[in-house]
Amino acid sequence: MTLKDLLARKQDHQKIVMVTAYDAPSARLADAAGIDIILVGDSAAMTVFAYDSTTVITLEDMLLLARAARRGAPRALLVVDVPFDAVQGPDSDTVTGAIRFAKEAGADAVKIEGAGPTLQRIRAVIDAGIPVMGHIGLTPQSADALGGYVPQGRTALTAERLLHDAEALEHAGCVAVVLEAIPAPVAARITRALTIPTIGIGAGAGCDGQVLVWHDMLGLTTGPGGKLPRFVKQYAHLEAEIARALDAYVADVRTGRFPELRHTYAMPESELERFELVTKEN
Ligand code: KIV
Repeated sequence: MTLKDLLARKQDHQKIVMVTAYDAPSARLADAAGIDIILVGDSAAMTVFAYDSTTVITLEDMLLLARAARRGAPRALLVVDVPFDAVQGPDSDTVTGAIRFAKEAGADAVKIEGAGPTLQRIRAVIDAGIPVMGHIGLTPQSADALGGYVPQGRTALTAERLLHDAEALEHAGCVAVVLEAIPAPVAARITRALTIPTIGIGAGAGCDGQVLVWHDMLGLTTGPGGKLPRFVKQYAHLEAEIARALDAYVADVRTGRFPELRHTYAMPESELERFELVTKEN
């Protein structure tokens, strides 16, 4: 999958499928399922590291996860989130981080949250030769400033601002834009206005593609406060399945049902006899 293929998908009205993954086995399964884009999201801060905000994950953390995901997924496009710590300093820090994602982890593109004042930073990364995916609407790195994890663009004025932000991201040279938690008609209007693909999460069916978080869609988390966002569709309930397997393992070990003979290694009888002879117990 290439960035050119991504653009062709939009032109051919073929939906784009994106999912997050943060390690090699998950990325391998996503790749084998034909997923177009694997996002090593900074949502790993919550799903993998159990923090309550995405802002605490570091560039070094993201690099480690991205390298693992790339090894699992040689085919899909690999997009890596530029974390909060890499967008706090000068633009050159962001450029250095983005180059590291490309060179050290084999990322095809990076994702950067925000527009407006962030556009200059995004242009600097693109000018350095690293493709950028934009992300507007509910941008988790600035959730506090947005009033929490709440939908965005629900008034005519804020919806219009989102449209202008999306257009500015396209003009800046972004290869695609994530639209998170915005009303479906607003996302559809943005999608029609852009020549680059929109990838929606909580933004309705009018987007060019969809993204879901791995742990949410597979039933590996119930989300903060035990409640998942309304835009999540769960395709499996793996938490229950894993709990069942772990309970069975605990019971097997405690009762001696595991390991069985077939789980052990044999040795020649003559060697065993010699071993028992030389280590004879009193
Ligand atoms: O970090 C993430 O998982 C994301 C998706 C929600 C788009 O940014």
